[in-house]
Amino acid sequence: MNIVAPTPEAIREAADALRRGELVGMPTETVYGLAADACNPTAVRRAFEAKGRPAENPMIVHLASSADLARACGLVPPIAKELAVRFWPGPLTLVLPKGPAIAPEVPAGRETVAVRVPDHSVALALLRESGLMLAAPSANRFGELSPTRADMIEPSVAVHLALVLDGGPCRVGIESTVLDLTVSPPAILRPGGVSRAELEALLGPLGGPDHERRSPGLYPRHYAPRARLRLVKRLGHDQPGLSLGEAAGPHQIAMPLEPEAYAARLYAGLRELDCSGAIDVFVQEPPKTLPWEAVWDRLQRASGLPEVS
Ligand code: TXA
Ligand code: MG
Repeated sequence: MNIVAPTPEAIREAADALRRGELVGMPTETVYGLAADACNPTAVRRAFEAKGRPAENPMIVHLASSADLARACGLVPPIAKELAVRFWPGPLTLVLPKGPAIAPEVPAGRETVAVRVPDHSVALALLRESGLMLAAPSANRFGELSPTRADMIEPSVAVHLALVLDGGPCRVGIESTVLDLTVSPPAILRPGGVSRAELEALLGPLGGPDHERRSPGLYPRHYAPRARLRLVKRLGHDQPGLSLGEAAGPHQIAMPLEPEAYAARLYAGLRELDCSGAIDVFVQEPPKTLPWEAVWDRLQRASGLPEVS
């Protein structure tokens, strides 16, 4: 796999590849993305193919700064600018009216587009060097675990990439929060790196995620390891899996007791269990409190369970 250190030459090479319509593995603070020129329909179609992703599932556009909002979007309401000042660069994605420059394939034919400025020096360097807006879904096969390290990108995805820029392990570890600003009140379509509490402090009570209003990309089974994942109150000694605080047996990973630190370890932990060949993995249920909303969302989808509130 063509994983390279993010030297200035490598970033120039990656930017050239993107301008030619090729795909690049790009680190962000949440998960690794599979970047394509958001204004080039051929490049965007390649990204869908590399992921094996259904064409109706829209992609997020990454911007170098909030100054590019007007390039990507039609109308930019004042609240979007306020949120950008407060949370960008960072793990918050805003759904806004789509501007004409963005290829229609990116939002899968919708009139809206999801945008964010990633908080990662390598992603920002690549955005600036290329001068492009980058559609970048997570760099996993559709439905599988998102990579939080360059070496977690599966070979079946990596073959489609000109190169992967190695930006080290992702700080946040789960995907961005997707906030729909085209509805009133705004609705969280996917919980993620920015918490509901942080957003509600600024915006008041928010809608979603619910069955009517949630990201079109949220399928019941998603973010899933190969092993069957079961949520349990506590792990038995011989059960491989993720325990909270301390491990009760030999094939267990002790996960942090704090939601942000837990999220940062989640996909790498599940991946490690997959690599150990476990067929069933057991995950000790974290607390059912608001700060754990995004972790719960991913665990429920990874286990293929129907949603619980
Ligand atoms: O943290 C992240 O957001 C990562 C990194 C690479 O930035 N990206 C990511 O992309 O998770 P992806 O493609 O795996 O997920 C995009 C999510 C999906 O849930 C999709 O439905 C939603 O964003 N989305 C994108 N465009 C949308 C739109 N126009 N309306 C509603 N939801 C949208
Ligand atoms: Mg994804």
